[in-house]
Amino acid sequence: MKSKDIREKFIKFFTLNGHERFNSSSLVPDDETLLFTTAGMVQLVPYLLREKDIDFKRVCSTQKSFRTSDIENVGNDGRHLTFFEMLGSWSFGDYYKEEAIELAFDLLTKEFKLPKDKLWVTIFKGNKNIPRDSESYIHWQKLGFSSNRIIELEEDNFWGPTSEEGPCGPSTEIYYDQGNSVCNKDMYSCCKNNKCIPGCDCDRYLEIWNAGVFMEYFKNSSGVFSKLPFTNVDTGAGLERLSMVLQNKTSVFETDLFSSIIDIIRNDSSNFNINSANLVADHIKAIVFLVLDGVLPSNEHRGYILRRITRRLFYNITILGYQDNLCLNLVEEVLSIYEGIYFEKSDRNSNLEKVLKVIKEEDIIYSNTVLKGIKNLEKLIDKGKISGEDLFKLHDTYGLNIDMSKDILLSRGLDFDEKGFNDKMKQQQERSRMNSSFSLGKSVEKDFSEYPKTEFLGYDILSLMGAEVLYAEENDGEIIFILNKTTFYAEGGGQIGDSGKVMGNNLEVAVSNVKKTKLGVYLHFGKLLKGKMKEGDIVNCYVDKGKRENTSFNHTAVHLLNKAMKIVLGDTVSQKGAFIDSDRIRFDFNLDRALSSEEIEKIEDIVNENISKNENIQILEKNFDEVKKMGIDLAFEDRYDKTVKLRVVKIGDFSIELCGGTHFGNTGKIGKFKIVKQESASKGIRRIRAILEK
Ligand code: SER
Repeated sequence: MKSKDIREKFIKFFTLNGHERFNSSSLVPDDETLLFTTAGMVQLVPYLLREKDIDFKRVCSTQKSFRTSDIENVGNDGRHLTFFEMLGSWSFGDYYKEEAIELAFDLLTKEFKLPKDKLWVTIFKGNKNIPRDSESYIHWQKLGFSSNRIIELEEDNFWGPTSEEGPCGPSTEIYYDQGNSVCNKDMYSCCKNNKCIPGCDCDRYLEIWNAGVFMEYFKNSSGVFSKLPFTNVDTGAGLERLSMVLQNKTSVFETDLFSSIIDIIRNDSSNFNINSANLVADHIKAIVFLVLDGVLPSNEHRGYILRRITRRLFYNITILGYQDNLCLNLVEEVLSIYEGIYFEKSDRNSNLEKVLKVIKEEDIIYSNTVLKGIKNLEKLIDKGKISGEDLFKLHDTYGLNIDMSKDILLSRGLDFDEKGFNDKMKQQQERSRMNSSFSLGKSVEKDFSEYPKTEFLGYDILSLMGAEVLYAEENDGEIIFILNKTTFYAEGGGQIGDSGKVMGNNLEVAVSNVKKTKLGVYLHFGKLLKGKMKEGDIVNCYVDKGKRENTSFNHTAVHLLNKAMKIVLGDTVSQKGAFIDSDRIRFDFNLDRALSSEEIEKIEDIVNENISKNENIQILEKNFDEVKKMGIDLAFEDRYDKTVKLRVVKIGDFSIELCGGTHFGNTGKIGKFKIVKQESASKGIRRIRAILEK
């Protein structure tokens, strides 16, 4: 059966059983705390928690999904992928365990006609928090499964939450026995002892369907479980694995979802090997889908993951001796496999162009830096001894991802000093943690009080020539320094510090953050890229313009949000904290209940209305009495220095606040404001996460 028919049959079966079909959502979820859409349930979380009303009690979908949890196995076995499609069905407080189990069993045995004696099932064994799922056990027994084919597992049969907190529950899964010939024989202890059953890591028992996560719990960010006042069923089957079984294959890469891609690789490679080909086939799909859902390679967040898989793809393409570095044929093939499903034929050329542009740009960086790292690693391999510290240096200097180093070492049969690498990584993290809490300064016993207040010119200009270095301290390439004047904004008022470059004579520093001491001395934190920095050096500052601009837009949105909250919820509600960077807004306020969906909509509408009014942003300097007269909230009057001018940010006639943050021009170009999540921050304090859509 073709994968296209499997998709259709699945949806037909569930719609005939009263389920409403939902379209696949983007791989980039609304929930900013979650990197990617890793399952069909991601877009449904607000409904699963009843934060939003839903018109349907039964839903089904085919959802494009991306996970990196199994990335190390991709290519090395026939069943793990990063990009895959999940066929899913849900019940919102309608049917529960019995019907969910029956539906899954009927679809597999009656519609797809899988032989019952090849199926095994697993249920949740129970642990100290959650009891054993005895009901599912009984339902499977009723369908004729003897107790030796119902395996009880713990971690494998508890699913969720997908982000810091959320709905979760015990699950029951269906496995397909591919037969003894597929067993990896002596790779795992279960195989060695001839005791393979579901739960053993070998390929023989293939999980084909998470036939029901019985979501009746909520796990909060402190790890505490509470019972939800309602139940849900969440199921998910990987289309690639179902296709593998229904097409009588022993690897997902042999199914019609992959075989044409593998053929292209085979034809165009001078040094074909199946593991690299499988990895390339998986990763190219992930790249196409991620880019077309708007992810671009970068060094953080989603962009970092895309960059990592792109580099792994390049490396494996090199191993394959694949000629067309820009992957033209592969991207075209991916687009054509999913045409009419996720992509339109009419968009073919523009999609191709978008993806190839990203691949081409990444290829340049890869060839100029990462490849050097690989060559250095190869030199070390020739010498025969590679420490965790070497691996860390390759990662730090050339951006050679650790999973790539690992791939390379393992493919040569060499050990991987994971502990050594992790130790070095931890040390670096510790150093940057210390930087961010000023302890690098403390560690050299300085509080910087002898330095003059830094002149901050960055409200008006982003670049500055001729600043003088007053202090510089370097530690293993990490640097902290003070200038007499700067354009770098220092962390404050919820807004993150600027990053960018500082250059001097034969000197280059990448600035990653800036903090301000109580006395107004700006401490620049960064990495020395070239030369040495010393007291007395004359340098130029270049703030990262794109990052600053987006951060400023988010800061302006926070002012609008603050005012909109008061309009909708009353003046007693006020801002209790914020975190503003170039991608995200986090806003805390006092309220002892969740916002309703109508309130969220109202707040969004008010903010967006004021954005579209193209309101002017004025920065005014006023003394304390003038500020009081303007009616600005001065909650802690005695905290203000009454002898200095205060900075007032006024957005049209809508909002007026005291603020030391950065804002630009007018509201018109900041983007569309969207609240993506609300949660509790602490007792009586709610937290909103929001973004500006461009
Ligand atoms: N959310 C569950 C999973 O991803 C069932 O779909 O396995």
